Amino acid sequence: MKFADIMQSADWKAEKHVPVIEAPDSVKAGEFFNVTLTVGKEIPHPNTTEHHIRWIKLLFKPEGDKFAYELANFEFTAHGEAVAGANQGPAYTDSCGVARVKLNSSGTLLAMSYCNIHGLWESSKEIKVG
Ligand code: FE2
Repeated sequence: MKFADIMQSADWKAEKHVPVIEAPDSVKAGEFFNVTLTVGKEIPHPNTTEHHIRWIKLLFKPEGDKFAYELANFEFTAHGEAVAGANQGPAYTDSCGVARVKLNSSGTLLAMSYCNIHGLWESSKEIKVG
């Protein structure tokens, strides 16, 4: 068994669990840019005490490198929990995060998200550094 065996992927326009990576196709070496990660960009994912997105991670694998580097980790920890009961709480966090990133080589951005019911989902985006 490997992580790949339990990792789902799909077209994010048709599947609400896929983490969407928004970043430029090419950037300048050493200059910061924004990477926005969203689950539910096209089709909203539920955000209830019983069913929600817990976290999204962002990693970078440089071209020709064996290893990936973790860039950011977003945890979404409010989903309507309260003493009064499920979905009675005053606060919710939605599954979206922005990371400021700079790179020194081309490679691949990889995102992984976790739904408390539907498990792990992944996506990736190539990025060129000039
Ligand atoms: Fe789900």
